[in-house]
Amino acid sequence: MGLFKKTETEDVFSYLDEKDIYLDGACQSLRPEPVINALEAYYKEFNSCGERVKYKWGRITDEKVNATREKVLDYLKLKKKDYFVSFTLNTTYGLNLLLSQFDAKKAKIKYVITSDIEHNSPFLSTITFAKKHGIKRKVISRNSDGSVKIKDIPSKSLVVLNAASNIDGRTLKNINEIIKAVKQSGGYIIIDAAQAMAHSKEILEKTEPDAICFSAHKMYAPSLGGMIVRKDFVDLIDTSFIGGGMVDDVDLETYLLSSDNKDHLYTKFESGLQAWGEIIALGAAIDWLEKIPKDKKKILQENEQKLFDFFKEHGTVGEIDKTKEQREKNRTNGRFHLLNYEPTSTMSFYVDDLDSHLLGEALAEDGIMARTGYFCVHYYTDHKMHFPPLIRLSLGYQNTPEQIDKVISELSKIA
Ligand SMILES: Cc1ncc(COP(=O)(O)O)c(C=O)c1O
Repeated sequence: MGLFKKTETEDVFSYLDEKDIYLDGACQSLRPEPVINALEAYYKEFNSCGERVKYKWGRITDEKVNATREKVLDYLKLKKKDYFVSFTLNTTYGLNLLLSQFDAKKAKIKYVITSDIEHNSPFLSTITFAKKHGIKRKVISRNSDGSVKIKDIPSKSLVVLNAASNIDGRTLKNINEIIKAVKQSGGYIIIDAAQAMAHSKEILEKTEPDAICFSAHKMYAPSLGGMIVRKDFVDLIDTSFIGGGMVDDVDLETYLLSSDNKDHLYTKFESGLQAWGEIIALGAAIDWLEKIPKDKKKILQENEQKLFDFFKEHGTVGEIDKTKEQREKNRTNGRFHLLNYEPTSTMSFYVDDLDSHLLGEALAEDGIMARTGYFCVHYYTDHKMHFPPLIRLSLGYQNTPEQIDKVISELSKIA
């Protein structure tokens, strides 16, 4: 067997039963065969530790891990001279590594800014950041198209915003203008790209924030986190989360950080042994994502549109902009109420007089795997918008048109 088995692009989810309708990719995507094969090849053919091993297997691991670092930058069209890539557990871990070690005093930061629709991961880490540094935290509102008003961001702010939402997929439309404005006003900006990396990566291409955190498991890769960090941003990181893999020398009370060597900046955030196989398999996922045929992308878009049209026909769409009173009036316009303004791969809704959790269980009986609740966006969905618990359909390349027809047919029974 060669290092990686060859798999036809068309057939990458052939291990699935057609009756298993997986609609939870916003949590974690299914893994296409080339990704599973890459992980298996690591375990079976060159299982070894990266960075420190002199035997042949270790050299293969180093080569492939370094290739993945480059693939991540190429995927977003970012330059190696400006950015480096570190690996970690997930988006949450990456954001916390950055925020908990950010030297607010040195950066002369006066505010930390996030938005109302953020996942708990930036929402909570900005709360603890503000408390730790005794600075003001401001939660700004996202417009219905996902953009933010630049005038809402004060100068000298550390800004943390998602590039795409995990409740309705809306993207940070004016990302480039925001980055420019934040930098010009003496601030810094970190992008949560957990949702954007798989299906909205165009919005991230050539953007130049200070850092981007993402979860490989939401982009068809194994469970893993990634951080893309501007090289000069490292000057503001006061290292405190530390251990093996990060140091070149250690004396009784002192140590020499490997990241002091500009070629090893990525070690700044990689404490201890890394998930080498998962990192390598992320490289395989990026190769696969880059080669998704146009017709597969079209199927995904058509599936999104079909579901959106169903909601339009059987209720209302664009609930994110409506007050509770307006939503009460919507009850006469059909039972289904979709948060989205437009079709995306992530669509959340509720049904009048029907508990979302019960609906989730009923759909599960028909093989439809959807999520229910508030999807770790408690502030916005529950406390700000007072939505009832929601149900989320997050689509992916594994879904066939027939599967979406089946979902619509099941939902139609309720409509
Ligand atoms: C927008 C967004 N940010 C952050 C996260 C946290 O990701 P993880 O749990 O992989 O750290 C999620 C997870 O769903 C998300 O959707």
